[in-house]
Amino acid sequence: MSKQEDCISRRVTCRVCGSKKLHKFLSLGPTPLANNFLRKDQLDSPEAFYPLDAYFCSNCYLVQLLDIVYPTVMFKEYAYLTGASKPMRTHFAELTEDVIQNFKLSKNSFVVDIGSNDGTLLQNFSKYGLSTIGIEPASNIAQLAEDKGIQTVNDFFDEECAVRVCKEYGPANVILATNVFAHVDDLENILRGVNHLLSNNGVFIIEVPYLLNLLNNMEFDTIYHEHLSYFAIYPLIYLFRKLGMVVVDVRQVPVHGGSIRVFVQRTGEQSKNVAELLSMEQEAKLDSFQTYLKFGNEVFLLKEKLMRLLKMLKGEGAKITGYGATAKGSTLLNYCKIGTDILDYITDTTPFKQGLYTPGRHIPIFPEKKFHEDPPDYALLLAWNYADEILQKESEYRQKAGKFILPIPEPKVI
Ligand code: TYD
Ligand code: ZN
Repeated sequence: MSKQEDCISRRVTCRVCGSKKLHKFLSLGPTPLANNFLRKDQLDSPEAFYPLDAYFCSNCYLVQLLDIVYPTVMFKEYAYLTGASKPMRTHFAELTEDVIQNFKLSKNSFVVDIGSNDGTLLQNFSKYGLSTIGIEPASNIAQLAEDKGIQTVNDFFDEECAVRVCKEYGPANVILATNVFAHVDDLENILRGVNHLLSNNGVFIIEVPYLLNLLNNMEFDTIYHEHLSYFAIYPLIYLFRKLGMVVVDVRQVPVHGGSIRVFVQRTGEQSKNVAELLSMEQEAKLDSFQTYLKFGNEVFLLKEKLMRLLKMLKGEGAKITGYGATAKGSTLLNYCKIGTDILDYITDTTPFKQGLYTPGRHIPIFPEKKFHEDPPDYALLLAWNYADEILQKESEYRQKAGKFILPIPEPKVI
């Protein structure tokens, strides 16, 4: 196995503007990779912990990580399946309608999805008769898409890959990148690829979790090594302007704790929506380091409050478990140092996570069945992004006096 220091690099300049004016505002401590669930036989081996510190660039206002774990280490067994989640399927259907209505696509249009996962998003476009190609680096997942009939190039998207795709299939009218942009260190390499592949009046559409939601809802646990950038619209406009492209439109969408869908073209005018978001960001003082220092302090206070609550319940003899073995849960459990002294187990519906242990804190993960057979008094909702769906689904547990603990925006029993 390679040494830990061989798996990480450290940036000294901002990923968007190249400035060195970077200021740390939050340190979540040495943290293992959030999706690095362990088998039982791995529990006694040394585990790799990497710094998890968030920085603010006072030149372009990008919030980012500077300690970069190599993607080859992080994504070697990528396990997130888009198609597995109903809210994501609904979301992608809505995204498809939005794009088709607003960009007047025809049957001849060609759509490329970067980080196409199991092909769930492209299936929607394909239903409308458009031609599609997915680009997906994880070979097991690319194969799932192929099995559904979604043609997929098994590769990381970069300029070289874009040149190949363009040569073989021609320029793309739409390029999609949902939930990949925040994961990429070398944004300009991707964007050179987009620039090469996008047709003259084509549109590049990205979706990223929105920084303003992260700050307002205390979604600090969405900070983990896979997420390198935490975007607001201002630094995105800065980035695309540098490449001679225009952010023509934006809207807020309700996935992953609140995201933005951003439309970029070679030419065009910024819409009213863009101006509105920019002024919201100014009002929220996203351009001021003080805003982030205050957030860092609030995260610390949240941890104290959550731990007081959990220890009090434990002291009363309550049985507590975790609901959803999420990546964000890994951040939360590690930062708060919650282990099996507090949570008996975690349940999760994802088959491959079942039987494994959470990174760092080593809490066992069981199928959902255990939650019903051996129910706790309290369940810490680590999959808070699906709170509505889960509370509804577990109404019987709640009727029998079972409670959920929501960790954010502030710890609350419901
Ligand atoms: P996800 O939303 O991908 O969060 P993250 O990006 O932080 O990992 O993960 C949701 C997890 O929650 C996934 O492992 C499945 C699990 N889950 C349940 O166990 N039960 C449920 O009812 C739902 C909706 C999700
Ligand atoms: Zn910057």
